[in-house]
Amino acid sequence: MKFFIDTANLEQIKEAQDMGILDGVTTNPSLMAKEGITGTDNIMKHYVNICNLVDGDVSAEVIATDFEGMVREGEALAELHEQIVVKLPMIKDGVKACKYFSDKGIKTNMTLVFSAGQALLAAKAGATYVSPFIGRLDDISTDGLNLIAEIRMIYDNYGFETEILAASVRHTMHVIDCAKLGADVMTGPLSSITGLLKHPLTDIGLEQFLADYNKGN
Ligand code: G3P
Repeated sequence: MKFFIDTANLEQIKEAQDMGILDGVTTNPSLMAKEGITGTDNIMKHYVNICNLVDGDVSAEVIATDFEGMVREGEALAELHEQIVVKLPMIKDGVKACKYFSDKGIKTNMTLVFSAGQALLAAKAGATYVSPFIGRLDDISTDGLNLIAEIRMIYDNYGFETEILAASVRHTMHVIDCAKLGADVMTGPLSSITGLLKHPLTDIGLEQFLADYNKGN
């Protein structure tokens, strides 16, 4: 499973990259605003900064909600850097724009996906990635992980190559459950990645090994 980090924070991206386990980055307008990155020029520059920090795909989201606007913005984003993936909302014009970019060989990520039917449309439009938001489904008492299982089954039934990018991952158990269900990618905050490291027996064991080593030295 690929690990993407879901942030626009350069320090956190660098920390994950330095661990050697990062495969890419996802962002959205809210994550940009959280870092105080506003205005088209600053946002575009920030995408380039992110691309220069990591080796993998970097999702950059369009703001337009009409086909022509999405094409215009998506083409400008794709020209910024070869690692950019054009992130499009799951609406009718977003599906149409996804097909347009897929036909041109430009990578896409269909975002704000909350149902298996939406994921089926994304695959039909040739999306590189589909982003089901599991945490936001959990927030409204709906099983987000079940959506991952449904999409996995549908994609496997037909051999769709669209990668399931489990998004709105909130914690380590989401990561582990997504891996069990066969999600191709997960994107979450840094804490959902570094939290995987933690086990008290690791800490106790290491402390004991070091204490025993020091007895003879
Ligand atoms: O990748 C989608 C993500 O940014 C949404 O996460 O935590 O705002 O639901 P969250």
